[in-house]
Amino acid sequence: MTHSVTFSEIEKKALKRGINFEQIKELFHKKEHTTPTLILSRSEIRRNYDALVAALPRVKIHYAVKPNAHDAIINEVYNRGGNFDVCSAGEINKVLQTGIDPKTLVHSHPIKSIPEFDFAVNNDIETFVIDNIDEIEKLKRYTKKLKLLIRFRINTNSTAVVNLQYKFGCQTDDVLALAEKIKETGHEFYGLCFHIGSQCTYSENYVKAIEAAHELVKQLDANQFDTRLLDIGGGFPVEYTEPILPIDEFCKPIADALDKHIRPGIEIVSEPGRFIAASPTTLICSIIGKAQRDGKMWYYLDDGLYSTFSGILYDQCQYPVVSNVTGEHKLSVLAGPTCDSFDVMYDGLMIPEHKIGDKLMFTSTGAYCEVSGSNFNSLRRPDYLVID
Ligand SMILES: Cc1ncc(COP(=O)(O)O)c(C=O)c1O
Repeated sequence: MTHSVTFSEIEKKALKRGINFEQIKELFHKKEHTTPTLILSRSEIRRNYDALVAALPRVKIHYAVKPNAHDAIINEVYNRGGNFDVCSAGEINKVLQTGIDPKTLVHSHPIKSIPEFDFAVNNDIETFVIDNIDEIEKLKRYTKKLKLLIRFRINTNSTAVVNLQYKFGCQTDDVLALAEKIKETGHEFYGLCFHIGSQCTYSENYVKAIEAAHELVKQLDANQFDTRLLDIGGGFPVEYTEPILPIDEFCKPIADALDKHIRPGIEIVSEPGRFIAASPTTLICSIIGKAQRDGKMWYYLDDGLYSTFSGILYDQCQYPVVSNVTGEHKLSVLAGPTCDSFDVMYDGLMIPEHKIGDKLMFTSTGAYCEVSGSNFNSLRRPDYLVID
């Protein structure tokens, strides 16, 4: 991306989605408002949740807490009847505060340390994901009967922005042997799961995985393994700097494939993270310093790559830059506040000339941003401000 987005463009988009942009604008213009701040819109969480429920009528939503474990998100999801996907003791503690029944949670981490596994079992979590024999060996320490989902991977020509099939997932040919092994340990084979990758813009990848699940269910049936649940993972895409399909259009082929291939008795769940958490958060930063170097305007912001913008690094993401300054566009660089030269977020951006104290806004900064930041240089991390 080479250009910033104007306020009016963002406002038009926000109004189309039903977002109350006025409140965000007011905070942006308020002189005494300290930055960096992450503005979190509760109504946008609800809109995202409802849109996904409507787009996938057979699917129960288990919000994957990892992209953002803010209480406001967890509570909104819970209050709408949503459930959770967890992968650590910390996430379990967070979601149990809602009062949700731990037996309904899915623990989706295919590799669990013994202390993590013990913590989850001792807190009455029953449904776990595995993808290999060595993980199944760990089940022998538990007398409580656990429900196991086997995570498989498929080959796809097109990959998601974040490939989640690289580190996890067994081959489809290994599923039956793993189900047999689960039975040997006295636990229950409960179903199948996959994660096609995060920010996946190809619904055909989900369709392929659902077709593979259908074949696996037939094979498992023939061997007296009853598939009770299919977990279709997360991955649903969000509009950052590139346009994407509206979620109902994106999900239509997925919903059709589920109807065609997955029999009514099989419960279907999904673990969306990004789709629920990204768009409700808007980052507001201030320009704290400015310099002209090598023919470019350098702007130093009060948030950087070591904090909210860590998503550029770990999540391979670019966030729209929004400014209300007008004028001739100049070749610019946006850098973070630390002493490290690596702390540069945008190089080659065309924006009007700004002055120290001007604010910039970055939309859709709610997923895999603040959670992966650090305290490098002991600089102030942004506060959340929850609205509507
Ligand atoms: C097991 C699992 N479930 C769900 C998610 C959430 O995926 P997304 O944010 O792409 O919806 C992830 C992301 O890493 C994951 O690893």
